[in-house]
Amino acid sequence: MNCLSPSILAADFTKLGEQMAAAEQAGAQYLHFDVMDGFFVPNISFGMPVLSSLRKGTNMMLDVHLMVEDPARYIGQIADCGADIITVHAEACKDLNYAVDLIKERELLAGVALCPATPLTELQYILHRIDMVLIMTVNPGLGGQKLIPYTLDKVRDMKALIDSKGLKTDIEVDGGVNFKTLEQVLAAGANIIVAGSAVFEGDVEENTKRMLDMMK
Ligand code: DX5
Ligand code: ZN
Repeated sequence: MNCLSPSILAADFTKLGEQMAAAEQAGAQYLHFDVMDGFFVPNISFGMPVLSSLRKGTNMMLDVHLMVEDPARYIGQIADCGADIITVHAEACKDLNYAVDLIKERELLAGVALCPATPLTELQYILHRIDMVLIMTVNPGLGGQKLIPYTLDKVRDMKALIDSKGLKTDIEVDGGVNFKTLEQVLAAGANIIVAGSAVFEGDVEENTKRMLDMMK
């Protein structure tokens, strides 16, 4: 199933509750929550207190993308805040298998993210254990960037690999997905679509509905 995961990084934080409700009302199934530590990526975004507040106001799947170094340190707290999916970067883990263990122990969905230049072979031995692969379609750390064209090949290769192994792993794409690039990422095989600026710039409800229509 195709799902939309609006990224609140692009939201107006003075209206966060309202905008989140508008996306939910319009049918978004997931809400994407970007945690940045100023170390794995240069920027700092938001963390646990914001996540637990949002949890109280929504039934959407909270899709937490940890752009932090050694994310295993925070999986317990993020789970306590009510995350449904926790995604760690393969590049940021000291021991990726251990990080996935921690997510699974909390009975949450486990995602692993790959930066644009990181090869798919990083996931060779762990693919069967994870629920979602997040293919970064821009360099992580900043909203509003342009999709890097070669990442579409990567999505296609990932989809072929998942199918060849008979797995049902979701493929999420993140970065530069808008009304122009949406068709391309869907055609390449992505089924969980993160969109920040495309959803939150302008009318959130209208943008969400328009994206979801294109995803049917
Ligand atoms: C980038 C973040 C994205 C970001 C996407 O590092 O992981 O989730 O919010 O923003 P857009 O959709 O504007 O490219
Ligand atoms: Zn993200």
